[in-house]
Amino acid sequence: RPAIAVLTSGGDAPGMNAVVRAVVRTAIGAGADVFAVYEGLQGLVDGGQRIERFGWSSVGSVQHRGGTVIGTARSADFRTREGRRRAALHLLERGIDRLVVVGGDGSLTGTDVFRSEWPDLLDELVEAGEVPAEIAARHGHLVIAGVVGSIDNDMVGTDMTVGADTALHRIVDAIDALASTAASHQRSFVVEVMGRHCGYLALMSAIAGGADYVLIPENPPADGWEDEMCERLRAGRAAGRRESIVVVAEGATDRHGNPITSGHVRDVLAERLAEDVRVTILGHVQRGGAPSAYDRWMPTLLGHAAALEVVHAGPDHEPQLIGVRNNRVHRTPLMSAVERTRQIPGLIQAGDYRAAMAARGSSFTD
Ligand code: F6P
Repeated sequence: RPAIAVLTSGGDAPGMNAVVRAVVRTAIGAGADVFAVYEGLQGLVDGGQRIERFGWSSVGSVQHRGGTVIGTARSADFRTREGRRRAALHLLERGIDRLVVVGGDGSLTGTDVFRSEWPDLLDELVEAGEVPAEIAARHGHLVIAGVVGSIDNDMVGTDMTVGADTALHRIVDAIDALASTAASHQRSFVVEVMGRHCGYLALMSAIAGGADYVLIPENPPADGWEDEMCERLRAGRAAGRRESIVVVAEGATDRHGNPITSGHVRDVLAERLAEDVRVTILGHVQRGGAPSAYDRWMPTLLGHAAALEVVHAGPDHEPQLIGVRNNRVHRTPLMSAVERTRQIPGLIQAGDYRAAMAARGSSFTD
């Protein structure tokens, strides 16, 4: 019987529970033993009660809940070889050699390092007498599949990451709320949104929320952008617009790579437009709370596909990212998706903004 483990890692994202639920139930249906690892990759390093056998009802009533019910962490220990050696031991103790990891590109890369080291780690464990040779021989390969859980929608290889849709709804709700108070006072609001180095949440919320101006990392504004922004807002006021909203991605920079902060945008607007300007940093409220309908059904399909991927994989299986492309579940070699994602900052530095936007995938306007 194959034994698989599922874990959530990195920043939590609404919809992770739906992936876990689908992985557990699909794998059970396919005849596998299923384990959940608590607290992400750190749970693999710690072992013990952090790796728990799950049954069908272990994942009842979880898909409507925010965050991840099995916990997550950004594990420093897993970044060390000793940490990964302990992780291998804890998996082998339970006969697990198949993993579904739900996390961001850092967690998925770390898991792939673990996979490539797996045969050497096994040799070391056998030599040290910690694992019997016949057990190591039976589990000579680690099979992995990744599902991208991140509100940032920052990964090549999937049109949407799990959690991005919910975060976008949360931001648009906030912009709607701010617009009514802004309109009452004829104020300008600067809204700072998450996304790390990715402008998806900022761009899409600006479009959906009807903002006046947006600043995103993939399209750093040219010198003089402050004048252009003020001109746009002035024109809006002149046309009778009572509220002004500027959305700033937390990773926005200018063409010289200098960060554009929401505080700077506020100061520019206050000074040049002689207006009352307020800043709202939405923060972790964007990441919390119940998942949207999309972030329940889509992760369910992804979890189902990821479970089948690892249950049926042979020893020469190439790690796959299970994502969405054109509304269909889509497999992409995991490490090529990670590498293409990592090329995006270089494209921006080289001034190739169109390529950076295109690399983000079909969810971005080209
Ligand atoms: O990657 C998800 C994310 O929420 C980013 O948008 C943000 O930059 C970061 O995580 C915040 O991390 P932390 O929860 O560690 O403060």
